Amino acid sequence: MGARVTVELRGDARIVNGIPRYVDLDNYSESFGFQWNMFDRTQLHRHSSEMFWHLTGWTKEELVGVDLLEAGAGAGRLSRVILEETEANLYALDYSSAVEANLRSNGAIAPERFHLCQASIYDMPYPDGSFDKVLCRGVLQHTPNFEESVRALIAKAKHGGEIAVDFYEVRGWWTKINAKYMLRPFTKGMPNEKLLGLIDRNLDWMMKAHDALAGTPLRHLTRFLPLVDIAGTFPPDLTPAQRREWALLDTFDMFSPEYDNPQTTAAVAQMFTRAGADVTFTAPGIVRGVRR
Ligand SMILES: C[S@@+](CC[C@H](N)C(=O)[O-])C[C@H]1O[C@@H](n2cnc3c(N)ncnc32)[C@H](O)[C@@H]1O
Repeated sequence: MGARVTVELRGDARIVNGIPRYVDLDNYSESFGFQWNMFDRTQLHRHSSEMFWHLTGWTKEELVGVDLLEAGAGAGRLSRVILEETEANLYALDYSSAVEANLRSNGAIAPERFHLCQASIYDMPYPDGSFDKVLCRGVLQHTPNFEESVRALIAKAKHGGEIAVDFYEVRGWWTKINAKYMLRPFTKGMPNEKLLGLIDRNLDWMMKAHDALAGTPLRHLTRFLPLVDIAGTFPPDLTPAQRREWALLDTFDMFSPEYDNPQTTAAVAQMFTRAGADVTFTAPGIVRGVRR
């Protein structure tokens, strides 16, 4: 990996299975390591391409030869898009052992442009001001201090470099009146296999109930089902088997993480400003900015 290094990694890594590690292997993100190694290829789907271009607003032309940081890459669905569809040098990291899934799936695509390590957003092993582009999808709400995480990302961008993030959005007082937030205090401490088994055993009736409610005036009641929001988040072209597998993965992803701190889009935009970035774009659950 990493024949063409344009940003120097700190030299104090332990190399395990070919990946530089800068973390205690046992940390709060281990449920993510479990899920992404078990469902390593589930979401390597063309939907990820739309997700990447929609979130970032970047173009293929502007990504040629740039240094791009992807923080919290998980199993690497967006790493794959970046490696396959752009000519950027990708520096991807994750706090969990999900980096192993990412390497398995994506390590052979463009090894000279792919630099992967296991590290925390709070201690990223690159000098400040290193990156032309910084991307962080689906991660910030799962970190213990949202604003500190935003600050850490912006510090790694060059002056004039662009940062794009998404996050779970608080839409109003009702956001937390939802089966997820009611049950998480009980589920987040459960052993991974036990929680996954519980979801698996109940998944079929929950999906039937979801589908019965989804197209009706009672659709808002789906928030009380302990199930991912299938209608609102899944691509439409999944086969029934894929749909079930995605539902199992994403429902586990709802109930297992240690932290889940959604934010309003306005609050995240203010965090960008305080951290030294000019906000260039916002949409519900998305903020982009440029480091001053
Ligand atoms: C919901 S997953 C999203 C993964 C990927 N970005 C995607 O869109 O598929 C959240 C990821 O954030 C990672 N994460 C949580 N805290 C982190 C931290 N402090 N530093 C780096 N990654 C972290 C988790 O390990 C997990 O893989």
